[in-house]
Formats: sequence, C-alpha cells, structure tokens
Amino acid sequence: MVRENMLSVDDLIAPMFVNETLGRPAEVRSMPGISVQTIASAVEEARRLEGLNIPAVLLFGVPERKDEIGSQAWDPNGVVQRAVRYIKEGTGLTIITDLCLCEYTSHGHCGVLNDGSVDNDPTLELYARTAIAQAEAGADIVAPSGMMDGQVMVIRDALDEAGFEHVAIMAYAAKYSSAFYGPFRDAAHSAPSSGDRRTHQMDPANRREAMREMRADLAEGADILMVKPAMPCLDIVAMARGEFDVPMAAYQVSGEYAMLKAAAANGWLDPEATMMESLLSIKRAGADMIITYFAAEAAKVLRGD
Ligand code: PBG
Repeated sequence: MVRENMLSVDDLIAPMFVNETLGRPAEVRSMPGISVQTIASAVEEARRLEGLNIPAVLLFGVPERKDEIGSQAWDPNGVVQRAVRYIKEGTGLTIITDLCLCEYTSHGHCGVLNDGSVDNDPTLELYARTAIAQAEAGADIVAPSGMMDGQVMVIRDALDEAGFEHVAIMAYAAKYSSAFYGPFRDAAHSAPSSGDRRTHQMDPANRREAMREMRADLAEGADILMVKPAMPCLDIVAMARGEFDVPMAAYQVSGEYAMLKAAAANGWLDPEATMMESLLSIKRAGADMIITYFAAEAAKVLRGD
C-alpha cells in the first residue's frame, strides 16, 4: 500500500537484433540469453514476446551488404524493412525501429564521412529516406539514434510529407558516448572501424547539455524522449522527468545487461533480485518505459510464471 512505484510488463520494450546473413539464431557471446535472430526467427521471437504481454519491440538490423553510405538502411527490401513487414503480419506488437546508419556503413560510423569525420547535414537526408522506408514497411515509431543535429526535424518533415503523420518519433535525445555499448556493437557489427562517436554523442560529464539536447528534440517534434544509458544516467532521467511533460524512455543498454549477467553467472549477485531492482530504479527515476534486454525475463517474473 505504501509502495510509490510499480513496475509493469506494460513498461517494457524488448530490443531485437535481426541479421539477414544468419541461417539460424545465434546467441550473443557477451549477452547470455540474447540471440541475434534471422528474419524468419524474428517473427517467432516477436510472438513469444507478445505472448508474455510485452507491448513493443525495438528493431536493429544487420545487413548482408554494407557500403560507404549505408544504403541498405533505406532499401525497401533491407533487413529491417523485411523484418517489420513479417512482424506486423504475425503479431499485434508496437514496432519501433532504430534509425541509424552505423550497422549499414562499411566504416561503422552513424553517418557519411567527410575527411574521416561524420558529416552532419548530408547524413540528415539519408535519415529521412530511412524513416520513410521504415514507415512504409509498417513501423509505428521510428527511433533516431545517430545524434545528428536537426535529425528529428528532418525526419518529422519527411514522414509528414510522405503521409506518415501518424508515425511517432522516439528520440534518443540524451545519448551519451558510453563505454556500456560494447556488447551491442558485437551483436550489431556496428563498431566504428576507426575513431569514436564523441563528436556527436554526449560527454558523460555533462548534465545541462542533456537538457538542451532534449529541449531541442522536443521543439523539433519528438513524441517520446529517451535517455541512454539508463543506470549510469538516473540523474538525467529524473531531471528530464521534472522538466518535460512528454513520455520518457530509458534504455538499459547492452553493457548494463552484460555486467549483471556476468555477476550472476559467478554467483556474486542474485540474478532475479538485481534485475528487478535495476528496472524498478529506472522507473523510480521517472521513466515511463524501459528498453531492456531483460524484457522477457522480467515479464515472466512480473506475471508470476
Ligand atoms: C546506434 C545504437 C547503439 C546502441 C543503440 N543504438 C550503439 C552506439 O551508439 O554505438 C547501443 C545499445 C546498447 O548498447 O544496448 N545505432
């Protein structure tokens, strides 16, 4: 009766990797319990998540062919577009698509390169095309994660012009240049081949800048604001909750999952108790929704399965 915050299955969003080069699902070495799906198995996995009452998935694609500009990201038959069509047909899940180029470029950067660094403005045009391709495939929400300046505005305009006014934008608004993304980059084959993402992702030392990034994304038309990573940034989640009246998401990233799994595997931490406490703390900080690799496991606990 005196509990202030409650976790519910409705709060959870399950990330899902789809790799079109795989013949069968493959477990991610540094993320026990998480597999990269084939296009066919993605639908089965989506059905399993829906069966647990998880409301939404966040899709990431690994294409067969990468090039300098990441053109598979907006190809109508690109890996994510195909996966979206199948999942849409096979389930009633809300489909969120990560919108970035790092999985699609041969150099692993989130945009096109000019003299070795990411060129903001030419990249925006490619994000716009990708948003339309994802919406045409059936995405309900697009989630731009590249941290280019002006990306939300360009994507909103492009979607509206193409008749996708109803497709929402979940903006990776305060996305830090975090060392906790390591396992994800293995799963998505998206590590930059040289350099890093510090020119566009945020410095973990900064708090005020996060508010500025979120304010900008909101003004550009974001429907949902996201903070990422989650546990190292609970202060940012709490501050944003106080500042903004829109739905807030927090992304408990691959490294957060990996460290809890590793400690649990060693018998150093109680797996279920630490999983549930980590998620509840993100909720308490102010997140309305939590993107987490624990989604299926936590759903089972919450349902009492
Ligand atoms: C970029 C993207 C990344 C993650 C989500 N979207 C990687 C990055 O910025 O390098 C990381 C998520 C995780 O670690 O779980 N497309």
